[in-house]
Amino acid sequence: MIALVTGANQGLGLALVRGLCQSFPDGTIYLGARDEGRGSAAVESLRAEGLAPEPVLIDVQDDRSVREAAQLVADRHGGIDVVISNAAARISPDVPDSEQVRAFVDTNNHGAHRMIEAFGPLLNDAARFLVVASSFGTLDSLSPRLWHHFDVDHMTLRDLAQVMDDYATEVEAGRAGEAGWPSWINPPSKIGQVAAVKIAAREWDRRRGILINAVCPGLVDTEASRPWFTDWTGVLTPDEAAVDVLWLATLPAGTQGPYGELVQRRKVLPFRPEHGPDAKDS
Ligand SMILES: NC(=O)c1ccc[n+]([C@@H]2O[C@H](COP(=O)([O-])OP(=O)(O)OC[C@H]3O[C@@H](n4cnc5c(N)ncnc54)[C@H](OP(=O)(O)O)[C@@H]3O)[C@@H](O)[C@H]2O)c1
Repeated sequence: MIALVTGANQGLGLALVRGLCQSFPDGTIYLGARDEGRGSAAVESLRAEGLAPEPVLIDVQDDRSVREAAQLVADRHGGIDVVISNAAARISPDVPDSEQVRAFVDTNNHGAHRMIEAFGPLLNDAARFLVVASSFGTLDSLSPRLWHHFDVDHMTLRDLAQVMDDYATEVEAGRAGEAGWPSWINPPSKIGQVAAVKIAAREWDRRRGILINAVCPGLVDTEASRPWFTDWTGVLTPDEAAVDVLWLATLPAGTQGPYGELVQRRKVLPFRPEHGPDAKDS
């Protein structure tokens, strides 16, 4: 088992690496971090638990860094079995959206896109590729007048990247509300991540048994979520949340699905609401 998790020096990512190391003690599990010091500290913390992750430097905002990490895996192993694109930029309720949207989109959306492009060609037969998104990543979170931006049956990843850049421009210009975008920048970004998974799923060759999916870990107690929620009903620790994410990431070879879906607690969340756009106000 060769696996890699991005944004794994803390939060959910660290728990995912811990779980993979526990389940595959003979595997090579790469703990991806964008900062060498924070990555080493996280690796040491897991080594102190008797686990053996390998550090890898990977900044998902940087094309070259992502390509170099993929090259390292290719040189050492020739392929990979599990990739979890988990890294995400933090946003704060105290900072104007216009000041944080660009880095948010670049990390969460273009970062997932970079991971799909760099690691997609390295996936072994029956590999699993996950993008950690959220239950906000369905069209239900968006006014139907904007649904055409996420025409996942026809658009390319490049088209999607343009949609997300245009969205960031609208937020920066203070026009996003007028255009119908929601007031929180998280849902459009999560919809973009799920759309990327759906586009890659459409483009990839299913015959090799590879599964690509987006996953919602639920509400997880991390530094990223604390500023945003007051109702902590059902909140999970990172280790608790990792269980269902890792179930999806390690579905046995021969499993036919889910494929190209958003999955939460082992169930598919439909991307397009079943009642269709006509049921919503535009
Ligand atoms: N927490 C929740 O309730 C919740 C709910 C739904 C979905 N999610 C999703 O779950 C995932 C993990 O979230 P979390 O709560 O664990 O967040 P977190 O504690 O903020 O961890 C995010 C990780 O991403 C890393 N990161 C940020 N920018 C990066 C970059 N450019 N390149 C590489 N790594 C980068 C961070 O590294 P640094 O330490 O260097 O900043 C950190 O390790 C995210 O995709 C998030 O959207 C979380």
